Amino acid sequence: MTQDTRAGDLAYSDARDRLEAEIERFASRSGQAGLEIPKLTFEKGETRFEFMPEDMPEEMVLEGLKVIKNHLEHIRVHTLDPGYAVFQSLGTNLYETKNFLSGIKFKFVSITNNFRVEASRSGNFNESELQICIELFQLFHPANQQLDPTKKLEQLGVTVFAPESSASGESDPWGPIAGYSAIKQEVEECLLLPARHMSVFEGVARLTRGEGAANLPGAILFEGPPGVGKTTMARLAAGAAGLPLIYVPVENILSKFYGQSAQNLAMIFDTAALFERGILFLDEIDALATSRESGLFEATRRVLSVLLRKIDGLDRTGGLLTVGATNRAEDLDHALLSRFDQILKFPLPDEQERSSIFRSYAAHLPSEALLTLGKESYGLSGRTIQDVCESAERRWARQLIEKKQALSAPEAEVYIRVLREKRAGMNGSS
Ligand SMILES: Nc1ncnc2c1ncn2[C@@H]1O[C@H](COP(=O)(O)OP(=O)(O)O)[C@@H](O)[C@H]1O
Ligand SMILES: [Mg+2]
Repeated sequence: MTQDTRAGDLAYSDARDRLEAEIERFASRSGQAGLEIPKLTFEKGETRFEFMPEDMPEEMVLEGLKVIKNHLEHIRVHTLDPGYAVFQSLGTNLYETKNFLSGIKFKFVSITNNFRVEASRSGNFNESELQICIELFQLFHPANQQLDPTKKLEQLGVTVFAPESSASGESDPWGPIAGYSAIKQEVEECLLLPARHMSVFEGVARLTRGEGAANLPGAILFEGPPGVGKTTMARLAAGAAGLPLIYVPVENILSKFYGQSAQNLAMIFDTAALFERGILFLDEIDALATSRESGLFEATRRVLSVLLRKIDGLDRTGGLLTVGATNRAEDLDHALLSRFDQILKFPLPDEQERSSIFRSYAAHLPSEALLTLGKESYGLSGRTIQDVCESAERRWARQLIEKKQALSAPEAEVYIRVLREKRAGMNGSS
């Protein structure tokens, strides 16, 4: 059988170099100098990858299948017997039957105490196929199993904020965030209180709707213009609920792992699911907000389909809550929007809220000054107000230094002046 070469196939020597480089990186990351490089050969027109893991428990084979599925669309399970599992890729188009059974094949074999993982196909491996081999090798390596989910997530561009042990008291969880009482109340009812008093929520749902009913959202969307406190609220809520915040900067991941982002995102969800409880925060999903423009990049489309699948697949009764944040929900893909049970709109702050925000950054100012500042800051976000207050402080410090004055807090005039300058600057630039 002649094998068509596919676009994106890697020449054998390139594949070999990539494999070596990746294994070396993995070795140094996990502190395993001189790790043996798995075999990659090309003979009689066939590429073959092989390594001998130390152990092969059944659940690891299923983990392996997950890795394969993260990269390849259609997988056929040939065999799934204890000690012998074979999976094969069926290509991207199921109706294209010409080379139906020539796709890459993965074998997981264990005979007594001999274990072998193998991948082979006629012709060359492409990027995804090589990547699967690398990930399988890492998956089965003992060093990887000691890696805790937080470290794994960090390698994927995700930060995990552990809750501070002191934070989950009953005092005001919202710290510096002023105003927005309706939103705070929603977040408390969807997220904070259930984390602390789950049994009450379950009990209420049982009384109103019977056994097994739940009324907690699995996914919430924060929507609003930049700088209104979406990210900050998510962090404070997680802290107050005593839950880790798994912070996924979608836009960054999309650009940083270009081409690999869909697979990485899938892995992020799988790894996050290892946390018993937590908040998975997908920040700035605007990167995917292109439903109006027909030309969605192929890579973006793949990321979107992973997101849809994974948000749906998360165990809702389990402890992982997904929170997304976006500047423009109206442009988000409809299928993605529909995954969120609840949309919380963060508007720009009103006059009274702006005064309160000024107060939270300039507590020393008299109320008339705060009222004036609130009035004059129409249309500004919390972030811009914070910027104004910080500029005013620097301006004041400079003045103290230049005039050799004794230490004091900035006068209201400075805030008003800086605010007016900021407004003039904004009007000028728009
Ligand atoms: N209502 C508010 N009260 C106090 N500070 C605010 C408020 N809204 C936003 N900020 C401040 O503005 C900054 C940016 O907020 P952020 O959470 O990053 O906004 P977003 O995620 O909506 O863009 C943060 O430092 C935050 O403390
Ligand atoms: Mg933000």
